Amino acid sequence: MSNITITRTTKSRLSETDYDNLGFGQQFSDHMFQMEYRDGQWRDPAIVPFGDVSISPAALALHYGQSVFEGLKAYRGVDDKVRLFRPDMNYQRLMTSCERLCMPRMDESTFVDALIALTQLEVDWIPRKRGQSFYLRPLMVATEPSLQVRPAEQFMFFIMASPVREFFDENIPAVSLKVEQEFTRAAPGGMGYAKTAGNYAAAINPGQKSIAAGYDQVLWLDGRDHRYVEEVGQMNIFFRFTDRIVTPELRGTILPGITRDSTIALLKERGMPCEERLIDIQEIVDGVKSGELLEAFGTGTAAVIAPVGKLNFNGEDLLVNAGAAGDLSQSLYDELLGIQQGEVEDTHGWTVPVPIETAVAAPA
Ligand code: COI
Repeated sequence: MSNITITRTTKSRLSETDYDNLGFGQQFSDHMFQMEYRDGQWRDPAIVPFGDVSISPAALALHYGQSVFEGLKAYRGVDDKVRLFRPDMNYQRLMTSCERLCMPRMDESTFVDALIALTQLEVDWIPRKRGQSFYLRPLMVATEPSLQVRPAEQFMFFIMASPVREFFDENIPAVSLKVEQEFTRAAPGGMGYAKTAGNYAAAINPGQKSIAAGYDQVLWLDGRDHRYVEEVGQMNIFFRFTDRIVTPELRGTILPGITRDSTIALLKERGMPCEERLIDIQEIVDGVKSGELLEAFGTGTAAVIAPVGKLNFNGEDLLVNAGAAGDLSQSLYDELLGIQQGEVEDTHGWTVPVPIETAVAAPA
């Protein structure tokens, strides 16, 4: 999209940003992309200084949840090149989410060009340290003021960016998960496959309860029988047994993760195909008890590959791999990050280079 107007900040916050203490999504870069949808068209694409926006308290997104988002990362490679990872997949998933929530489509080039333009402008914000990256958060919300329960006719689309460290604390060797047996995240026919605010809102209360009980996150089971493993809410989940690797199949109730898809492809190339199917939680419990479950790990854009060291089910703590990170999750992490950072050849065409020769660095 060559028609993006750019208004630069007069005062960069870059020099005040402490890259030794990056959280996740707590510091935002100097600029953001925005455009507006009205009269059936996306219009006025612009990059502007990051800051508050004014919307009506009657904006439909605030009341009835017409809000969808994405998450992807830009990496500065060991070769100093900047790459986005699979933005085409984020586009496809955003369009799927929009369809589910009656929100407007946009062209793939509008989406990807906006990501590239913002990344170019913010190139100096992209961390160089291994494990850090530049998280891009596209967001579409219904801004039309109305209290009627119906699809809005006015929307805003934003892309904001945040230099981030790894999602889970580097000092945690492996995360602990409480298998959620009371609440559900999604049900058949619901919107579990869409990346929409409501799915995350549904997870807040159970998530807080699991933290209070001493666990990092919840592991969701299916909404009908509370029996089959679904996802973690911020990650998809994989289990490695002595003779098989399994992950829950996509059947409309879990998020089709891009790191999930990439992990399945990498496993296949290693001659370790992953079964995508229903996984009864009892299969996992039995595997821990018999010693056949060797590893569990989550995958996600924010989390990358996060080893799981403990599961709590029926009030019992089950240690996976003695609570430590396993070899497979470590090697998948290394391979994936290697591709993202240009250390490992990208034979899949997953990375999209961001030309930085023409980039204008944010003023210091
Ligand atoms: C991501 O991995 O990009 C996510 O959206 C997870 C996020 C809600 C922290």
